[in-house]
Amino acid sequence: MFITFEGIEGTGKTTQIKKLTAFLEEIGHIVEVTLEPGGSRIGKELRKILLNMDSTDITGQCELFLYLADRAQHVGQVIKPAVDAGKIIISDRFADSTIVYQGYGRGLDPKLLRELNDVAVSGNWPDLTILLDIEPEIGLKRAMTRNLQENKMQAEGRFEAESLEFHTRVREGYLTWAALNNDRIVVVNADQTPDEIFEEIKAKVVERIKGDYVTNG
Ligand code: TYD
Repeated sequence: MFITFEGIEGTGKTTQIKKLTAFLEEIGHIVEVTLEPGGSRIGKELRKILLNMDSTDITGQCELFLYLADRAQHVGQVIKPAVDAGKIIISDRFADSTIVYQGYGRGLDPKLLRELNDVAVSGNWPDLTILLDIEPEIGLKRAMTRNLQENKMQAEGRFEAESLEFHTRVREGYLTWAALNNDRIVVVNADQTPDEIFEEIKAKVVERIKGDYVTNG
């Protein structure tokens, strides 16, 4: 089974992925956690280019194809093998990030991005996507504090440095995209305590795992 987490910066994806992993392992699943960009060896190189503050001269098209290249490698080398081995693989961001950041955020056509993603994922869309939703003002403040604490501003701060307007477009894009894909994407309010957020996520994941057993025996 393949689960992805999405949301703007500072929604607490990392914390929730840790909680979910611990829970799933406790009930007997083998879990693998990964991320985009940078989930494969080649992807780690692409991540450096994509998130560095010095990449200000990157064109929108180049950025798009680097994300797609990262994804194609990630799916082929990491995600598909894990699913085939019967594991639960959880990715911090995946194809929806491209549709929302490059599409709703940067103005590329979401429908075209969906088609390009189809090429990159070659049939491996997630079984379930958790969208953590929060006001951009709150999320960005959290992300900035974290980057400053971890000294990551120069190496990985390119997106956090975008305007509030950009992040507002991204947040609204996520909600629009989730409504169009409500069979796969579940929206969870991330402006609650970590435990409250996790209870909602847990219920959705358990429901999906049960559904999977009914369908696949
Ligand atoms: P990361 O440091 O992983 O941030 P976060 O903690 O918010 O997940 O940075 C990933 C950044 O890359 C994030 O700002 C979103 C952006 N991104 C895209 O624009 N398109 C994509 O396809 C992906 C996967 C990420």
